[in-house]
Amino acid sequence: MHVVTRNQGKLREIRAIVGRYGIDVVAVAADKVEIQSDSLEDIVRHAARALLGSVPEPFAVEDSGLFIEALNGFPGPYSSYVYRTIGCAGVLKLMDGVPNRRARFVCAAALGLGGEVRVFRGEVEGEVSTEARGSSGFGFDPIFIPRGYSRTFAEMSLEEKCLISHRAKAFSLLAEYLAAKLQ
Ligand code: IMP
Repeated sequence: MHVVTRNQGKLREIRAIVGRYGIDVVAVAADKVEIQSDSLEDIVRHAARALLGSVPEPFAVEDSGLFIEALNGFPGPYSSYVYRTIGCAGVLKLMDGVPNRRARFVCAAALGLGGEVRVFRGEVEGEVSTEARGSSGFGFDPIFIPRGYSRTFAEMSLEEKCLISHRAKAFSLLAEYLAAKLQ
């Protein structure tokens, strides 16, 4: 399966997740069309439709983000921009003194196959930590603690994160669907 992303962190995770279904990943550094929308599913559906015919099938595109309850879902679809501008430290500052730390990561993964696009979604609930911890993973991993754990994603191995993450859920659904189609 071709995966359209320039994000090496995402790529490593997607490779580990779909590898469990016997699916190999080839990275494609094509440019994605990114419409502005509150819905990751809409964003990724548009991006995948625009790539039909120019990227070999089957291919996948994903869009993901961190939605913080006390900030009404911010940064959400703007997570990549917010990470590049204010980073983990900036988000921790916004959350300084905020008792409600609930947040969720959401991943929307679009599959291009047979000239059509199908979208799969995954979510993981958790909370924003009070300090950045850990050095594995990427993006907001050092400040996100999944529910039921005391460690951040950045304090977990890739394998452990990929058992519970939003990306694992979305890409497991996508891989199950694709593996059944390719049989
Ligand atoms: P995009 O999907 O390329 O628009 O970027 C989503 C952004 O959300 C990334 O650049 C990260 O900052 C953040 N993000 C998405 N998924 C994760 C994750 O699994 N760990 C940490 N940060 C993430």
